[in-house]
Amino acid sequence: MGKLNAAAVTKIEEICDRYKDEKTPLMMILSDIQNEYGYIPLEVQELVSEKTGISVAEIYGVVTFYSFFSLTPKGKYVIGCCLGTACYVKGAQQVIDRFSELLHIKPGETTEDGLFTLDALRCIGACGIAPAVSINGKVYPKMTVPQVNEVIASYRSNEEKEVTA
Ligand code: FES
Repeated sequence: MGKLNAAAVTKIEEICDRYKDEKTPLMMILSDIQNEYGYIPLEVQELVSEKTGISVAEIYGVVTFYSFFSLTPKGKYVIGCCLGTACYVKGAQQVIDRFSELLHIKPGETTEDGLFTLDALRCIGACGIAPAVSINGKVYPKMTVPQVNEVIASYRSNEEKEVTA
């Protein structure tokens, strides 16, 4: 988003106004902004603070606490590796390490080409199919290290097809 342009300021003010009668509007405001722009940088948090009177510290705390919110733009494909207990005991650490190695990024980072973001998640409620990985909401059950290679290769080849189509 960079420096906020007039259209973004108007849009964010409009989102804040949408919930002005709510007792605790912050989560709703931030969710709408996240959905609209894909991330919530500091200058947006400052604007929300000015509009709502909620301190920047509180807003920053919420944005950084929930993995759904992001301070930086996310990649086209957001890979969420569950590191909850059930997934962990079934090898989730090796799975996320393999994603890291293949993509050359650490959890919380995005690849330079903007294609992949890697996130470490707490339990996503799919313990029966541990270790679980979610990519843009699609859940991959019982993920193994060799499957990580296949999944990344298939996303990359789809991407190449899109580019050359
Ligand atoms: S611990 Fe991974 S889905 Fe529950």
